[in-house]
Amino acid sequence: MDAIVARLFKWYDTHCRELPWRSTRNPYYIWVSEVILQQTRVAQGHDYFVRFIERFPTVESLAEAPEDDVLRLWQGLGYYSRARNLHAAARQVVSMGAFPRTYESILSLRGVGEYTAAAIASFAFDIPKAAVDGNVCRVWARLFGVDEPIDTARGKQMVSEIAQTLLPCTAAAKYNQAVMEFGALQCVPKGPNCEVCPLSDKCVALATGRVGQLPAKSHKTKVSSRYFTYLFIHTDEALLLHKRTGDDIWRNLYELPLIETSEPLSFDALLQSCEFAQWRTLLPGYTYKSCVDGVKHVLSHRLLYTTFYELLVEEPLPNPDGFVVVPFGELDNYALPRLIEWYLENKTEKG
Ligand code: ADE
Repeated sequence: MDAIVARLFKWYDTHCRELPWRSTRNPYYIWVSEVILQQTRVAQGHDYFVRFIERFPTVESLAEAPEDDVLRLWQGLGYYSRARNLHAAARQVVSMGAFPRTYESILSLRGVGEYTAAAIASFAFDIPKAAVDGNVCRVWARLFGVDEPIDTARGKQMVSEIAQTLLPCTAAAKYNQAVMEFGALQCVPKGPNCEVCPLSDKCVALATGRVGQLPAKSHKTKVSSRYFTYLFIHTDEALLLHKRTGDDIWRNLYELPLIETSEPLSFDALLQSCEFAQWRTLLPGYTYKSCVDGVKHVLSHRLLYTTFYELLVEEPLPNPDGFVVVPFGELDNYALPRLIEWYLENKTEKG
């Protein structure tokens, strides 16, 4: 075994956290944990994982569940396509008759990329495939002084080759867990404490003063802006929600009635808009109650500039096509984007 890996294993033996998905070989549990942890920190992901497995203890129970139930359980984690793919792939697994046991067949599952397939294959079946996520990239890019940006195909390829070359064939699971844990706890993105690092004498980035610069990024990901104006239309008892459809963010999640524009919408422009005029004809009478303006919500490739207007409506609430009237007491049954959840929590707390 390479000396670096031997030291990593020694470090892992004393530093690894006890996490529920580490004490199992069940590929379904491992898969769920990896999907949750893709864009979520361990501290937050832990409780979601426990709740998810309690509610869907087997791949069959997940496959049988309505998608709304899965999304509801996912609420707050963001990146909802993960949950939709997990659900669709559970149906794929059930139709296969058993959980796939090779790297390639695991990779064929919906939403499962190279990293997740390698993690499941190694943790559940000891298949010698290096799993390379952001933490792992950072560790190897620093140790070997890889300058190539890791968000390019070439940079990823270089790091993956290092990771695969160092993998000891008889300890794939431990190796992948150890490198990930090392990236999560020791070789952290900002301000790692290299003085206590067991690999400091081997680290090219440290020797050349580039710990802060590595791993390099090309910053080519484009971020686009969108402008959302939400109407919180409610009576004392209930509010209106709308289920998002189509090939867009938050598909199948519920939100408030929305007016989306290509530029910021002023209050005057809102009052003059066709969309608002349509709402006005539907509302028997309403009082404008409040506005929450300038809310910036960050998604992976998008910035949402959002304004909320609250309209208190006389009974009964209208119920146009595509909208649902939801009593406040039943809001928990609906999967909401975090932005909407945040707004409604603030509103209902402060009355
Ligand atoms: N992040 C992604 N996968 C992980 C794992 N198995 N353990 C800890 N953190 C992780």
